[in-house]
Amino acid sequence: MRPTVVANWKMQLGLAESVKAGTELHRQISATQPEATVVVCPSFVALPYFHEPFADGRIQLGAQDLFWSDKGAFTGEVSPLTLQETGARYVIIGHSERRHLGETDTDVARKTLAALAHSLMPIICVGETGQQRTENRHEVTVQSQLKAVFRSTPPPTRGQVIYIAYEPVWAIGTGEPADPDTAESMRELIRQTLIDLIPAALVESSFRILYGGSVNVKNVPNYVRTGRYDGALVGGASLDPNEFTQLINACVAATAGAEEK
Ligand code: PGA
Repeated sequence: MRPTVVANWKMQLGLAESVKAGTELHRQISATQPEATVVVCPSFVALPYFHEPFADGRIQLGAQDLFWSDKGAFTGEVSPLTLQETGARYVIIGHSERRHLGETDTDVARKTLAALAHSLMPIICVGETGQQRTENRHEVTVQSQLKAVFRSTPPPTRGQVIYIAYEPVWAIGTGEPADPDTAESMRELIRQTLIDLIPAALVESSFRILYGGSVNVKNVPNYVRTGRYDGALVGGASLDPNEFTQLINACVAATAGAEEK
């Protein structure tokens, strides 16, 4: 299966910087045409600038958040309808940096429903903090984050794809990624939790699981090969187009290697 590699640019690049990085990335991806689904999530204001340049589908456009209502008096929020107009097809939901600012499991569930209702592919982030892991609560934390969403979300319909990104909070932006065995056991936990909530066949066909947290060109093979994740959610290492292209290529090579075995 083609791996999916998602760039989460967070609030790291200004508008001109985003356009420059996106244009260069598109040039490199067009030249190398990797066997991967490449998704770029710039800030909201940069999204319209990529509508045309990414229209050839070599790079998919994603947002970093959305609101659950279509329209109304919601100062500062962005409607899924507006995201559709920008050409975005993916949306990150429940990133730990947003949860840290107060986003709740209920918000994440409502946003997931809104994304699916508007044919935006949700990339739902789950993961425990360092303290939760120390206290041995990492499994229940991730399970309850998943349950909060999928108890109230109807099972995906044909053709709908839902991404779950396992992002241990302690690994994000720290340069200390989860070791591949830890990541693999959490991937298995996520899969099992989904199977408890949704028919197994649907989990296999409609869900993809990504790893995120200090992913770089060197360590990405560990997750997609040994850990058998379907791809990666990448922050810091996605900002430089050269580095990110190399990371995508490393991911594709590792996935192809895994299939040969
Ligand atoms: P990082 O961020 O790759 O810089 O650790 C990942 C993320 O927060 O999505």
